[in-house]
Amino acid sequence: MNDSKQNSHDEVPELVKNAVLIHSSPIPSGTPIVKGYDWNRGIDYHALLKAYKNSGFQARNFGLAVDEIQRMIDARNVPLKVDQVDILEDDDFIKRRTPCTIFLGYTSNMASCGIRDTIRFLVQHKMVDCIVTTAGGVEEDLIKCLAPTYIGDFHLEGKSLRQRGINRTGNLLVPNDNYCLFEDWVMPKLDAMLTEQKEKGVLWTPSKIITRLGEEINNEESIYYWAAKNKIPVFSPALTDGSLGDMMYFHSFRNPGLVVDIVSDLRRLNTIAMKAVKSGMVIIGGGVIKHHICNANLMRNGADYAVFINTSSEFDGSDSGARPDEAVSWGKIRMDAKPVKIYAEASLVFPLLVGETFARHYHSSREKTVSDV
Ligand SMILES: NC(=O)c1ccc[n+]([C@@H]2O[C@H](COP(=O)([O-])OP(=O)(O)OC[C@H]3O[C@@H](n4cnc5c(N)ncnc54)[C@H](O)[C@@H]3O)[C@@H](O)[C@H]2O)c1
Repeated sequence: MNDSKQNSHDEVPELVKNAVLIHSSPIPSGTPIVKGYDWNRGIDYHALLKAYKNSGFQARNFGLAVDEIQRMIDARNVPLKVDQVDILEDDDFIKRRTPCTIFLGYTSNMASCGIRDTIRFLVQHKMVDCIVTTAGGVEEDLIKCLAPTYIGDFHLEGKSLRQRGINRTGNLLVPNDNYCLFEDWVMPKLDAMLTEQKEKGVLWTPSKIITRLGEEINNEESIYYWAAKNKIPVFSPALTDGSLGDMMYFHSFRNPGLVVDIVSDLRRLNTIAMKAVKSGMVIIGGGVIKHHICNANLMRNGADYAVFINTSSEFDGSDSGARPDEAVSWGKIRMDAKPVKIYAEASLVFPLLVGETFARHYHSSREKTVSDV
């Protein structure tokens, strides 16, 4: 074989070399380096969750969400300036209380599962200012005060459950008797509301109904007990789309005439957003709850801070799956904000997020107060 033929076989063609071994531009200095948690440090969940930020993928988004919520807490934990004190507002539920108004939204299943207890903690300790949820998010909390929800299995057969009067939400089970107990509990409350409407001219709105039910349930395990006590408004524009709606439907035959006004609630919600000095949104799940909070924030040219947690993707054009940047385009999040979306199932992630932010802050300020005494 001659030499030149031999060389042409041995050498990597220039084209291939350039394609595979292309040189990089320098990575900007300060770019974080990927690094996970070192288990040789022992089992330290706080350190583990801190390490998420440099771990990549959704762990990275978790770390960024911790920072974003911390920004909300920092903005909230300074006193209102004299000219920011809301002296003209008569409605205590929508009065500006802090320099950063936090909107919390969650889908119904969050009240069905254990996230209910995390939400109750936030509301109990006044860490959020305004809630938006769907009908199930209200009634499932109240019903749990009357009878428990049980752990089941995603694969339990619908037909056999139906024959036994047991309802399934994912891998949770709610006996139908729970809804019968709810009916017995709620019907007299609806009667009383109708009487007040007729005799005192009360105009009921979803948020006023939820406050009333929260007062009536009188149970410290309930989100809405604390919301009523702490004057945190709870909006639910689709309040009829759940068992509460079934009850209102039955009630409309038994004792007709109850009117529920959603426009007054829209005024209340949008007013809260307009009054906010800074505004933060923490939204678990999608649908009505996500859009209702974002739309209210349009009234102030966008929220300053935002964290979305949901399993939905944007390819179908749904609002549920829309990334925060889509909300920026509509003026629902500010252009200079650093919003975060965690693509994750919330029952796994939300307690960890609260543990690293609101709860950590709550417990460390309590420890500080105790050590100051
Ligand atoms: N327990 C219940 O879920 C329940 C009970 C009674 C009535 N309902 C009614 O069903 C209707 C639909 O419920 P909805 O509007 O509250 O929301 P939904 O259950 O339809 O969820 C909306 C979107 O939120 C996201 N999401 C939901 N669960 C999630 C999770 N665990 N983790 C991350 N993302 C999640 C998903 O993208 C989902 O498509 C409502 O009108 C509600 O009142 C629900």
